[in-house]
Amino acid sequence: MYLAVLTRRRHVVFLVVLVLLRIRITHPGNVQPGIGPEPEGHPCAGRPRANATLLMLARNSDLEGAISSVKQMEGRFNKHCNYPWAFLNEEPFTEEFIGNMTRLTKSSVSFGQIPREHWFQPDWVDEDLARAGRDKMVEQEIIYAGSVPYVTFFFHQPLLQDYRYYWRPDIEYFCDMPYDPFYFMQEKDKIYGFTISFYEWEPTIPTLWSSVKEFIAEHPHYLAEDNAMAYLSDDGGATYNLCHFWSNFEIADMDFWRGEAYQAFFDFLERKGGFYYERWGDAPVHSIAVALFAPKDKLHFFTDVGYRHQPFEHCPQSDDWAQNKCACDKAESIDWRPQSCIPRFQRLFS
Ligand SMILES: *[C@@H]1O[C@H](CO)[C@@H](O)[C@H](O)[C@H]1NC(C)=O
Ligand SMILES: *[C@@H]1O[C@H](CO)[C@@H](O)[C@H](O)[C@H]1NC(C)=O
Repeated sequence: MYLAVLTRRRHVVFLVVLVLLRIRITHPGNVQPGIGPEPEGHPCAGRPRANATLLMLARNSDLEGAISSVKQMEGRFNKHCNYPWAFLNEEPFTEEFIGNMTRLTKSSVSFGQIPREHWFQPDWVDEDLARAGRDKMVEQEIIYAGSVPYVTFFFHQPLLQDYRYYWRPDIEYFCDMPYDPFYFMQEKDKIYGFTISFYEWEPTIPTLWSSVKEFIAEHPHYLAEDNAMAYLSDDGGATYNLCHFWSNFEIADMDFWRGEAYQAFFDFLERKGGFYYERWGDAPVHSIAVALFAPKDKLHFFTDVGYRHQPFEHCPQSDDWAQNKCACDKAESIDWRPQSCIPRFQRLFS
């Protein structure tokens, strides 16, 4: 049971699974979430902390990007709230990496390592067939297609067991967070939050939707009553319109990933081999699961969060832009451009 990740960017790339190594470092004078003194007016003032952690999947070579991400997240949000950080790597983190992450936050930081045998594809996968798939995608110039896919099953990671929500804070945040998004998710009982939604590249997932349909036919009881199928399909489920939430920013409820529907769905997809023979990524797989197996009102578009992950960005359009001291250009926001799936998401609720 693993979750393939398309490594879409330079800095915070890759995957996970179980952990062999577990180091926990607590900064001296650390303020535990929910305890420390709180100045008036910050996003977590006067509120209990949610059951949540910030999560970063990174390699030692991603140090520069990781420093930038952590600095922005701390400056825009977490210096007030002191949510813990969990960092996961495929090899031991260097002293340099650990030292820098520890100096950037006064929250507790944990570092985990995924054992080597868990980030290669399982033995039952036909490597010749998998290689043929990768070669084909290299011909089609799919980025990173030439490498063996990493697998991830990060929510079973020991470092994350104590938490319900995680937020993957990837590089660029343009605006102050005026409130605590974890608390929002928990209070409103949401399971998935996103900022950017657009179309997946079809050659990476040629047989994903037929597998999804097969799964639904076998397990119709997992379909939520008021689901978001209309976001994924324009013809009632016959075909996939390729819409997905961009998973490099995601605030999600791991209890949903750990739940029966997602586990069954993931096992089914894993057995299909599409993570290896094609290039199924965690973005479409997560998106399809939350859109179908949860009621649509459990999904949340964080329209007031300014976020960029090249080449796309979301910039708040309303008064939030000035209020939250956003540093982005409203006109650059992808929301209403042809490549965006936000209009489909909004129509679910109109
Ligand atoms: C942080 O990383 C830099 C290299 O970018 C290194 O020179 C420095 O020693 C590190 N700092 C700590 C506290 O480890
Ligand atoms: C936080 O969530 C995890 C996972 O659901 C749960 O095991 C744990 O008991 C929760 N902790 C608190 C303090 O509610």
